[in-house]
Amino acid sequence: MRDLFDRIIKNKGPLGKWASQAEGYFVFPKLEGPISNRMKFKGKEVITWSVNDYLGLANNPEIRKVDADAAAEYGSAYPMGARMMSGHTDLHEQLENELAAFVDKESSYLLNFGYQGILSTVDTLVSKDDVIVYDIDAHACIVDGVRLHIGKRFTYKHNDIESLEKNLQRATKVAEQTGGGILVISEGVFGMRGQQGRLKEIVALKQKYNFRFLVDDAHGFGTLGENGKGTGDEQGVQDQIDVYFATFAKSMASTGAFVAADKEIIDYLKYNMRSQMFAKSLQMQLVKGALKRLDMLRTRPEFKLKLWKNVSALQNGLKKRGFDIGTTQSCVTPVYLKGSIPVAMSLVKDLRENYGIFCSIVVYPVIPKGLILLRLIPTATHTLDDVKITLEAFSGIREKLENGTYLRLSEAIMNSLKS
Ligand SMILES: Cc1ncc(COP(=O)(O)O)c(C=O)c1O
Repeated sequence: MRDLFDRIIKNKGPLGKWASQAEGYFVFPKLEGPISNRMKFKGKEVITWSVNDYLGLANNPEIRKVDADAAAEYGSAYPMGARMMSGHTDLHEQLENELAAFVDKESSYLLNFGYQGILSTVDTLVSKDDVIVYDIDAHACIVDGVRLHIGKRFTYKHNDIESLEKNLQRATKVAEQTGGGILVISEGVFGMRGQQGRLKEIVALKQKYNFRFLVDDAHGFGTLGENGKGTGDEQGVQDQIDVYFATFAKSMASTGAFVAADKEIIDYLKYNMRSQMFAKSLQMQLVKGALKRLDMLRTRPEFKLKLWKNVSALQNGLKKRGFDIGTTQSCVTPVYLKGSIPVAMSLVKDLRENYGIFCSIVVYPVIPKGLILLRLIPTATHTLDDVKITLEAFSGIREKLENGTYLRLSEAIMNSLKS
């Protein structure tokens, strides 16, 4: 037998093993100053393309005032206890009613965090006899919800309807034996590469197969559909989504989440969802803040219009310059380049320090070896000038990538990162 910590100390995990070279720079970077298009990184101003504040609400003065007034009125504790016990209020109920109406569902239920909320939603919707069929590229919170399921589960190839159908056939066979049902799960917008889930084609399969459909619309809520009602609305199939989920952590620029469905289903979740039954209720500052943000979505289309103006300028500009931005159908803007991890690190360092551009970098094992994904999130706070500077910077780094500058720099940079 060994000490429990032996393994932990020896093997820091797939990301943890890079900590000494990457921490504080590529991972756990500190972006400082008010959340906006320009923030500070290591004391220097950078154009920030890595914050999911799509509508630019994070620092909207009207919203900041509502947040501050609610904090002054209620403090950060109220209400105490789980919703079911002592943490329920009229305002929680009002927010749920307004959210449900906004996404065209009968009812909704607040969740403290998106991650734990959807994990627990998946867990609550299925019993051991049921079968889950989900997109292989689904977010970790869905994967972890599926992990709690003790019955059968199948993945289908990313956004591949033929593969989904094959797996629905397998799931149907299992469910017929167990007497259970089938839950299909997709994201509304896949946050890494930006494709929309093929919700329209997925719901069309309901003609042939008996299943219920859960959509995680973290990136679609606020950015797609009428007034930001989400990807289901954008594709005209919101009424076919049985359980709709979105977080407040992106377009709403806050913390919390919600799940919406028919009243009977939400009532069941209220009485059975462990993440909410055994955790403190969402604090009032977040509830009042969410009511205000939702009102902004409903009544202030200019934020979404400005967002999409920036998205178009950035994505069209990148395409015009010959960059590969994959098959995004959303605000999420991936730029695919070729290079090793050390090359990617030196490129990103140059981009941040010499061009003043801060975006996220994704490498193997999240994407195939030899590819570098720079992920840009346009927001309503960006300007066309930001876009222009960024496009020029990208042309600059591509030239250096192609002439081998980063390959030569990569070794030196690996050594100097911590100094
Ligand atoms: C698709 C998706 N679902 C859920 C979450 C989790 O949301 P939260 O940050 O509210 O926990 C995220 C956030 O990264 C996400 O991208």
